[in-house]
Amino acid sequence: MISDCQIRLAMPADVRRIAEMSRDFIEHGLGWRWTPPRVLAAIRAPDTNLAVACRSNRLAGFGLMQYREDEAHLILLAVEAACRRTGVATALLSWLEQCALTAGIGVVYLEARTCNFEARAFYRRIGYREIALVPGYYQGREDGVRIARDLWLQKPQYKADT
Ligand SMILES: CC(C)(COP(=O)(O)OP(=O)(O)OC[C@H]1O[C@@H](n2cnc3c(N)ncnc32)[C@H](O)[C@@H]1OP(=O)(O)O)[C@@H](O)C(=O)NCCC(=O)NCCS
Repeated sequence: MISDCQIRLAMPADVRRIAEMSRDFIEHGLGWRWTPPRVLAAIRAPDTNLAVACRSNRLAGFGLMQYREDEAHLILLAVEAACRRTGVATALLSWLEQCALTAGIGVVYLEARTCNFEARAFYRRIGYREIALVPGYYQGREDGVRIARDLWLQKPQYKADT
């Protein structure tokens, strides 16, 4: 399904819900590290984009990407339970990837909990590949799987005018 959500940069008014979603949908069982002050700091950081997807003026999902010299790192991505399987995460990630491409960055990395089969299926579906197992990645308590996508491989090819 094509998502009808609107994507924009997060604002301070979004911070509380983003932090709660991170706690409930991403960090459950690991302790709450993405608290409101940390989310607010991410909004203000010059090397990150915190994007939100809104539907009918309500926050449906968010994604946080950090842009480094020659790679981008997807740090957080979550969608409200009622909005899942409607293309929200695909739209968010595509928006964040476009920012990476605009900055000349061609590779995106992220980590997922090995037990998060739903997220792993999502990333596989949209062209990401699992490249390594990272034992103890989550505070030494849980293993992670490193996932990556080469954005250049799927970059549209433009024919030069002759
Ligand atoms: C993973 C998550 C972000 C996906 O968000 P979403 O908006 O539902 O994803 P989309 O609608 O864009 O899905 C695109 C495709 O990915 C695949 N996919 C998405 N969720 C899936 C699931 N639960 N099981 C299997 N495949 C899935 C499907 O092929 C889907 O297309 P389809 O619905 O037409 O079959 C969402 O389930 C979520 O917030 N989970 C909890 C937080 C989380 O795990 N975040 C990732 C941390 S690494």
